[in-house]
Amino acid sequence: MCGIVGYLGENSALPALIDGLRRLEYRGYDSSGIALRLGSDIQSVKAVGKIKALEEKIFGKDVKSPQSPFAKWGNYNKSPQLQYPRGCLGIAHTRWATHGEPSEANAHPHSDCLGKIWIAHNGIIENYKELKEKLEEKGHKFKSETDTEVIAHLIEDFYPHTNTNDNVSVGAGKSGGDLAGSLRKALKLLEGAYGIVLIHEDYPDKIMAAKMGSPLAIGLGDTETIIASDVSAIITRAKQVIYLDDGEVAEISKNDLRIFNIDNVKIEKKIEEIDWDMGEAEKKGFPHFMLKEIFEQPESIMNSIRGRVMEREGKAKLGGFDSVSKKLRDINRIIITACGTAMHAGLVGEYMLEEYAGIPTEVEYASEFRYRRPIIDKNTALLAISQSGETADTLAAIREAKEKNALTLGIVNVVGSSIAREIDAGAYNHIGPEISVASTKAFTSQVAIMALITVYLGRQRRMSLITGERIIKELLLIPEKIKDILGQNNEIKKIAEKYVNAENFFYLGRKYNYPTALEGALKLKEISYIHAEGIPSGEMKHGSIAMIDENFPSVFICPRDSVYEKNISNMEEIKSRGGRVIAVATEGDERIKEMADDIIYIPKTLEMLTPILATAPLQLFAYHVSALKGLDVDKPRNLAKSVTVE
Ligand code: F6R
Repeated sequence: MCGIVGYLGENSALPALIDGLRRLEYRGYDSSGIALRLGSDIQSVKAVGKIKALEEKIFGKDVKSPQSPFAKWGNYNKSPQLQYPRGCLGIAHTRWATHGEPSEANAHPHSDCLGKIWIAHNGIIENYKELKEKLEEKGHKFKSETDTEVIAHLIEDFYPHTNTNDNVSVGAGKSGGDLAGSLRKALKLLEGAYGIVLIHEDYPDKIMAAKMGSPLAIGLGDTETIIASDVSAIITRAKQVIYLDDGEVAEISKNDLRIFNIDNVKIEKKIEEIDWDMGEAEKKGFPHFMLKEIFEQPESIMNSIRGRVMEREGKAKLGGFDSVSKKLRDINRIIITACGTAMHAGLVGEYMLEEYAGIPTEVEYASEFRYRRPIIDKNTALLAISQSGETADTLAAIREAKEKNALTLGIVNVVGSSIAREIDAGAYNHIGPEISVASTKAFTSQVAIMALITVYLGRQRRMSLITGERIIKELLLIPEKIKDILGQNNEIKKIAEKYVNAENFFYLGRKYNYPTALEGALKLKEISYIHAEGIPSGEMKHGSIAMIDENFPSVFICPRDSVYEKNISNMEEIKSRGGRVIAVATEGDERIKEMADDIIYIPKTLEMLTPILATAPLQLFAYHVSALKGLDVDKPRNLAKSVTVE
């Protein structure tokens, strides 16, 4: 939710900021802006829409055209002799609106009354209205409807400026106040979440950053420092990184980096290595990140499993769980919490854990969990699933469970993310960055890791060696089987062409594939804007079937499993009411041909692993529908990759 970049170094800041914004665009993209130090001034440019609109505003549509109002910022063209303005300090932001419509006035960076302090912010300041009223009473003039602008004015209020504007009663006094001290005083008044970068006109060589609830990482390059909401905006320039923790403030100048808390107590931080490869964050010839990530699944699933199975012992080896393995033996209840796609992976996990590990399990939307009064005792574990590791609701649910002394576990992709650092123990997905807003390879990896956790916990209990062995053996075959399914891409595209104009879809499945139905429907609606509903097949006749006619198709996930016959009966019910059916069925199933209008076959596997195989064609189907409609597949409207607000 919103992306922040800050740059200080020996090179021109502009290309670094724009490149960083492009890489963070998936976090939000309704407007963007840059504040750049040029000579003794700080100048800003903002634009509504995607980063491209900002670039056009800075450099002109025709990059060589002198018409750009910001031509003075430099002669940016695609020639090898790039010339950028000399400014070596700047901040930038790509926004996903929370307070105030997407507009230039509301786009970040925001400034104080005197235009000296410039700030980019991710998060929500919950008490901004109250603070704004007080500041307005003191004469501060606001230019936007955002909560963020309050922070700039608050700092201004604590910072003694030579005041050139009589209407503004900011602390009078000589210039050259204590920026770090003023920032700390301002932060103490904020309620809510923030990741902040800020620059000040009086400090040509300083950038400040602060974190509370929204991620912020500081990349340490040879001659430059890049601060960003996530490492994908850092990896091109730095391999070493410091992750700020909540309540920390960083003061960065060319030759110094100081991190302290809100009470100015110095904090020693660990420098970590970024192990993501740059190529992993690029499209590699695919038209969209989503398609690339769907096709990465044979490898990404293998990366999630590799080194974590002991085939002959029928056991799973999860190094991240070692420190709590004794406690895990005593766990008699698991609550899985997550949002969206990750929550669907959790639902598959619920079936697995109950059937194979014999542990009562429930799954709860993280956004609901924290507002219940969950009954948790010392033998309850909370398992959070999150690709980004930054989802605010999931993080809040973990904190709620910790308050009640629950053991907290996680499945997280982004190394060093807030959730990864908050939980007691966990397993990383090891699938590299997922850039497309619609989650694909994270889901299949999360389900694969759920299977490993099931074996791990099951073998601590009553699961036999034979069962453990069988699950592991089948899991290891999944990557090859996914490859077979991806080989049907062209046929799936043809099916998408047939249904591209439908306005509604049901996705139906039972038991392990009820979550698959939810996931298939979510994929379709989020990237194609077609209404789609996931329903347990058996539930359809309790109301939803009233919607069915020849224009309302249903996708049935009906592999040859323990509920196959039941699913077939439900399919008949749809067919006899004139509904069209696309079936995801097991290879060799001839019977399905009598009923389904279109069939996508998946290889046979263990019932508990079918959601991994059945989801892949649904991802491709959604992808093709969206691409055929000419929509922005990777950046669907109104969404953001990492939802760091409630
Ligand atoms: C859907 C999607 C979202 C996320 C959800 C949780 O394609 O991506 O539903 O799954 O916002 O995000 P994470 O896993 O980052 O906590």
